[in-house]
Amino acid sequence: MNKTKVLTYVWPRSIRLFHWINVITISLLIVIGLIIFNSKTLGVTVDAKILLKTIHISIGYIFAINLIIRLVIGFIGTSNEKWSRTLPFMKGYKKELTEFRRSPKQAYTGHNPLGKLMVLALLIAMIIQMATGLILAGTDIYYPPLGQHFAKSIAVNETQLDAIKPYSKVNVDDERYKQLREFRSPIITTHLYAFYALLVLIPLHILGVLVSDEKSLGWFLQ
Ligand code: HEM
Repeated sequence: MNKTKVLTYVWPRSIRLFHWINVITISLLIVIGLIIFNSKTLGVTVDAKILLKTIHISIGYIFAINLIIRLVIGFIGTSNEKWSRTLPFMKGYKKELTEFRRSPKQAYTGHNPLGKLMVLALLIAMIIQMATGLILAGTDIYYPPLGQHFAKSIAVNETQLDAIKPYSKVNVDDERYKQLREFRSPIITTHLYAFYALLVLIPLHILGVLVSDEKSLGWFLQ
């Protein structure tokens, strides 16, 4: 007899698209971020550093738009993509966790209770990266959304903002520039620590998927 396999997707197309755009943009942001971080050791020139930051920020915009769309879908979605089915602090989570402890091998459509905790941790780290990254984009190479504002804050002559260029002192007030560097210092630190957090969370997330989905593990170990 001719048996036809019916493929049922757990996640709607929008979420699968979000996920893979997220994977690609984060991977690129990590690689370029690592080069920026090690630019002195690698002997990267100032021009190359500006270019790396421009590329990092451009990819960052795609990452941010994709993340914002996902955040909105979580509120307006009707299926597994809803935050009420994806995050760990929604109604019924404690009961779900107790049942999971009792029989961890049971099948779940969507995330199991530990998966939900992981989604929350990843979301927090990504939102921090997005917020700090968008601020940093304005403080160093004067990119949107806050670049104009920061350029104005350090300008000697506010009518000539175009003269303010990355790593140049033209039309820049030294004292206010120093203040801007002090302002951005804790933001860079936060961006860096959220990056470290992602370096731990991402492999754990992949491991969790492989362990909880035996089919993936089988494929992986083949
Ligand atoms: C998961 C997402 C991201 C990761 C893993 C990441 C990673 C990094 C890393 C490792 C650095 C180097 C930090 C340092 O030199 O101390 C960096 C720098 C930077 N990132 Fe990101 N980033 C992400 C998202 C973003 C986004 C969304 C933006 C903005 C749209 C952004 C803007 C910047 C900027 C402007 C810098 C340079 C900071 C400086 O002036 O030194 N990043 N990022």
